Amino acid sequence: MIEKLLNRRSHRAFLETKIDIKDIDLIKKITLQAPTAGNLTLYSIIEVESQVIKDKLSVLCDNQKMISKAPHVWVFVADFHRWLKYFEYSNTEEKTNIPIRTPSLGDFHLAMQDTMIAAQTSTIAIDELGYGSCYVGDIIENFEQVQELLNLPQHAVPATMLIFGTPKKTLTEPRVRPDAESIFFKDTYKEQTKEEIERTYSKHEEGARKSHTLPFDNTGTIADQFYLRKYSSEFMKEMNRSANVFLKKWCEKQ
Ligand SMILES: Cc1cc2nc3c(=O)[nH]c(=O)nc-3n(C[C@H](O)[C@H](O)[C@H](O)COP(=O)(O)O)c2cc1C
Repeated sequence: MIEKLLNRRSHRAFLETKIDIKDIDLIKKITLQAPTAGNLTLYSIIEVESQVIKDKLSVLCDNQKMISKAPHVWVFVADFHRWLKYFEYSNTEEKTNIPIRTPSLGDFHLAMQDTMIAAQTSTIAIDELGYGSCYVGDIIENFEQVQELLNLPQHAVPATMLIFGTPKKTLTEPRVRPDAESIFFKDTYKEQTKEEIERTYSKHEEGARKSHTLPFDNTGTIADQFYLRKYSSEFMKEMNRSANVFLKKWCEKQ
């Protein structure tokens, strides 16, 4: 388990065959055992089996073809809808004489925390059973179309997506990460100096420099690379537009 966690990698290419149903059931059981705020289970998980839906998601999530090909695609949805319906079915408003308030950003954040913890618990279970997975953060793009495609009610918003299966090739070499002292602060937030921030990503930069993938003829920094490839990209613009839409809709009165 410890070795697996220390060497964990994302896998994007899988064999076509599906994972044995007994293992899928076990992954579900372990996922549901994840910590959840107030034991409320503020999420739903949509198992996408339809190839038509997989193909559409593949386009909507920044044209990532690996989604179409993945044997298993789970969309993790931050879900307050179930509890709002339960209040309604239970006549809670009348019984308590407290008007039902519109869900707000605190509710959203709590549900989001729950959902991501469930997703990460799934990835650990998937790895532990000898399979592989990759997150797809781009599921938060094109909200209006994803909402329609997955038939999502107002208070059920995609948090993340996992694709998983049996890796074509098992990757065991862990990717570089910052050192602990760059990321863990004692007691309060620590403003870092130029040198400290550079040190945080120095191993990333060294690797990229060696493989000649840094911008400006390989003289640039990891900051330049992130800025050019991601931060100023169209897909991140879309991600932010889409997130603004679902956050606004979440807080709208029903
Ligand atoms: C929130 C989140 C979103 C991600 N979205 C994508 C994605 O859309 N496409 C992709 O290929 N990888 C995605 N990844 C995987 C990361 O690129 C990967 O974790 C990172 O490059 C480090 O590699 P490793 O997981 O093999 O250590 C995502 C990971 C996280 C945690």
